Amino acid sequence: LFIGLDIGTSATKCLLMNEAGAVLNIERASYPTSFPEPGWSEQDPELWWNAVCDCIPRLLEGFDASQVVALGSCGQMHGLVVLDEKGEVIRPAILWNDSRTRYQVDYLNREVGVKTVASYTGNVAYTGFTAPKLLWLREEEPVNFSRIAKVMLPKDYVNLRLTGVASTDCTDASGTLLLDVRNRSWSRPMMSVCGLRECQLPQLFESWETVGEVLPEIARQLGLPEGVRVCAGAGDNASAAVGTGAVGPGRCNIVMGTAGTIFMTTEGFLTDGRNRLHSFCSADGGFNLMGCILTGAGCNGWWMDEILQASDYEAEQALVQGGRLGQNDVYFLPYLMGERTPHNDPRARAAFVGMRMDTSRADMTQAVLEGVAYALCDCLGAAREEEVEVLASTICGGGAKSPLWRAIVADVLGIPLQIPQTEQAPAFGAAMLAAVSAGLYPDVGECAHALVKVSPRMVMPNLKIRSLYQGHYDVWHSLYPALQSVYQ
Ligand code: XUL
Repeated sequence: LFIGLDIGTSATKCLLMNEAGAVLNIERASYPTSFPEPGWSEQDPELWWNAVCDCIPRLLEGFDASQVVALGSCGQMHGLVVLDEKGEVIRPAILWNDSRTRYQVDYLNREVGVKTVASYTGNVAYTGFTAPKLLWLREEEPVNFSRIAKVMLPKDYVNLRLTGVASTDCTDASGTLLLDVRNRSWSRPMMSVCGLRECQLPQLFESWETVGEVLPEIARQLGLPEGVRVCAGAGDNASAAVGTGAVGPGRCNIVMGTAGTIFMTTEGFLTDGRNRLHSFCSADGGFNLMGCILTGAGCNGWWMDEILQASDYEAEQALVQGGRLGQNDVYFLPYLMGERTPHNDPRARAAFVGMRMDTSRADMTQAVLEGVAYALCDCLGAAREEEVEVLASTICGGGAKSPLWRAIVADVLGIPLQIPQTEQAPAFGAAMLAAVSAGLYPDVGECAHALVKVSPRMVMPNLKIRSLYQGHYDVWHSLYPALQSVYQ
């Protein structure tokens, strides 16, 4: 048996997989994010560890735990976790959707220079990336900065608690802006820009490599046998790509999680000449280009929880009539946390535009779902301009559970979408990485080929609705530049 963990933003998900790739059980434990100041987003790493300790025993109930051979973790990328000499957490983790670092990003992209930073790392600076957060810490919390013995990422912190080993993997390290992505090694010039020494960074592994074993006292606490291997794991998007079979060049997977991402595997290392797509390592040893919108399914969560204060997502979406797809004159800009692709603008804000006296709650729910789909379409447009053509994609994540939302995404993007066997693709991918680390498969590609099944049901774009959406997308696309002067 293999365990996959996904240390997500809204919850940790644990998945149990057998040798044949069947998903035997999934457990989850939710936690909050705190927003202590406008644009800030933090979590206490202890929340992740408590969630793991809560989920794993439940996951194993009714199964022969002595058969667990290996465990793999994946999780939210970019989060800055800082540890002191004793391995204690110095301050709450600063998450991927935190935008406090806009001055540090300006410094990196303007003064150090976009070209220089991209030549060191393969990417330019975005507010959620880890390196600008280190610069922020150095300026704003110098005492905390001076205490740093290790810089870690969220799933790496969990792996450290499991094994006692401070590790990371190339996919997750790609989002730190401290990795030379092309060469899959830490970038010395970026370390010196951030005032870091190499010993403050964790040891770098490939996703499927074993970093250690679960410590005996932790194994007892979690109900695991002795000697369970732990592999380095991956960032959630790279792991989702494994879990949906988007491995090897020319494949695509869309994640509709709290964020939204389009993950396109490439033939070798490629960068986006206009710096809108991230250029990251993949979990099979290859590379990808990724578009990221900062609020994906998170927009609907905000709309349902904060605004409508409704908990029945299905009932709410049932109010949206299928016949109205492509005809909604209400528009929603999904920039609740600023935006990465294509604007790289932490100041961008969300907006509803175009309501009339007869606008209904259903029109606005529909606008939220459509606004996210239009933003994903911006990512696809950026890829197209770099001559990366996407002809079809798998789709996973909480938002992809909604048949209505999947249909809207297929119609707006104009591509067929395949539904994988579990929408928990990141945790599934992590379990598969564990299976490779245990030697069940020679490499990640073979493992994905053997174990990933997609449902024969495809979501095909409806060509009539697609053409209606093209006109609406053009209107939506003109709204960000029109509103830009409002953001500050
Ligand atoms: C990717 C990104 C998000 C997080 C959270 O660059 O920031 O997808 O990994 O899921």
